Amino acid sequence: MADLRKEIEKRRTFAIISHPDAGKTTLTEKFLLYGGAINLAGSVKGKATARHAVSDWMEIEKERGISVTSSVLQFNYDNYCINILDTPGHQDFSEDTYRTLMAADSAVMVIDGSKGVEAQTRKLFKVCVMRHIPIFTFINKMDRDAMDTFELLDDIEKELGIATCPINWPIGSGKEFKGVYDRATEKIHVFSDTEKGTKEGEDQVLTLDEADSVLLPGQRDQLADEIELLDGASAEFDQELVDKGELSPVFFGSALTNFGVEIFLKHFLKMTTPPLPRKADVGLIDPVEEEFSGFIFKIQANMNKAHRDRIAFMRICSGKFEAGMEVLHVQEGKKIRLSQPQQMMAQDRKIVEEAYAGDIIGLFDPGIFSIGDTVCMAGHKIQYEGIPTFAPEHFARVRQVDTMKRKQFVKGIEQIAQEGAIQIFQEYNTGMEEIIVGVVGVLQFDVLKYRLNNEYNVEIRLENLPYEHIRWIENREIDLDKISGTSDMKKIKDLKGRPLLLWVNSWSIGMTMDRNPGLELSEFGR
Ligand code: G4P
Repeated sequence: MADLRKEIEKRRTFAIISHPDAGKTTLTEKFLLYGGAINLAGSVKGKATARHAVSDWMEIEKERGISVTSSVLQFNYDNYCINILDTPGHQDFSEDTYRTLMAADSAVMVIDGSKGVEAQTRKLFKVCVMRHIPIFTFINKMDRDAMDTFELLDDIEKELGIATCPINWPIGSGKEFKGVYDRATEKIHVFSDTEKGTKEGEDQVLTLDEADSVLLPGQRDQLADEIELLDGASAEFDQELVDKGELSPVFFGSALTNFGVEIFLKHFLKMTTPPLPRKADVGLIDPVEEEFSGFIFKIQANMNKAHRDRIAFMRICSGKFEAGMEVLHVQEGKKIRLSQPQQMMAQDRKIVEEAYAGDIIGLFDPGIFSIGDTVCMAGHKIQYEGIPTFAPEHFARVRQVDTMKRKQFVKGIEQIAQEGAIQIFQEYNTGMEEIIVGVVGVLQFDVLKYRLNNEYNVEIRLENLPYEHIRWIENREIDLDKISGTSDMKKIKDLKGRPLLLWVNSWSIGMTMDRNPGLELSEFGR
């Protein structure tokens, strides 16, 4: 038991979030560098270079330079066992990000210091706030000309509605970047450009007086003014508020030149939590006291073309996992044996013999798992809270170019839907011959098209539909034919046969409600 507690308490499981190009991949690689997981962290994912980021594997991601799906990396640092969950860098995939956040105990937001919170990331970061887990901010690229620091913080507070607490403070930026001032120790970590960060950075720490020779004229006075202002204006560090996700500790650095990465890592690991008790139907499940349990938060088919298989990602929530153990798949009510579980290092996999609460493992999925499913010991049946489905905001009719490939088409589209990347609907009166696809972000249409073609050899055409609003009909007894809607309304059903309504205009929802007393609508398909 003592060993189990030790193992679980050293776990730190977090998601890393940013807008494309802010430096998430670079920062992740630098973390791995400190953990010794990779030997050489180069600047990665250059469109022209052959070397791609470890966590960036899917072809479409390489082509477009954005992350479409998330992957998981594990490394050890300073007696901690760290699980990083990478997330898609575009808000069109914010639902995937939300699912990943369900498996994380905290989140790290990477922001480009020259850009602040960008429009296309707002939604992603808001999703992060919705989860109420600790959020840490790393303001990156300080070696480039950055926005005014106060403005940056203001931006985060306004856009995300959470308070910020800078743990350190930058001195200059771009060519004048000299390092960061640590507010607790009142010392300066001096910036050095460590061979573009191909090895661990050196951390030179000086007192303010000692740093005088390093700083440019006027920088010390400016720093003193800014710190005075900051002490008066910003929120004080409060671990309780951090734990609730209401206060974000902020750090500054430059991932590319490997500056500020280890400072961040050290503080972060102390401020973030080990796996905490999770809510299940029977109450809170303690990660140490309870037997093994976990839930599926992500399903991904064809991760590796050579394998052609489907992997279900499980977050272990309590106890110890051992390869080959027999467990209960709660939603199916069946006992299954978890053989050949895997740990993912992007497309490299290794078989895990044991894992602990906080860890993420990949399970071969012969098609039995759904997102949100609980797995636990048969003698102690529990069920974790489900993962909500976001209401799609874009709809298109899907047509196959070659109608002979019907079987592959149906298989492909169903599998991709099971992953949660798209939602499939049908005309209310017909079967699978007319398929309507709903997505949260339009880029998901591109992914669907690409994947059907690439993985299932099926070419499709998408005809965009004008609908933007969807509601599930809660009262099943209602006769759909009798619902009198607006002229922009469409009746459809989902794969489980549940009736839904689509509208072009948001005000039509209210009008439909008015015209059909007793009609109960829901934004989530539960
Ligand atoms: P992402 O995963 O968030 O999309 O960002 P990624 O790490 O791929 O970084 C995007 C670009 O920003 C990369 O340049 C990377 O080298 C650069 N970058 C990351 N961190 C820093 C930093 O601290 N300072 C500076 N100046 N640049 C940084 P690229 O031109 O797209 O790729 P490459 O040609 O350098 O490989």
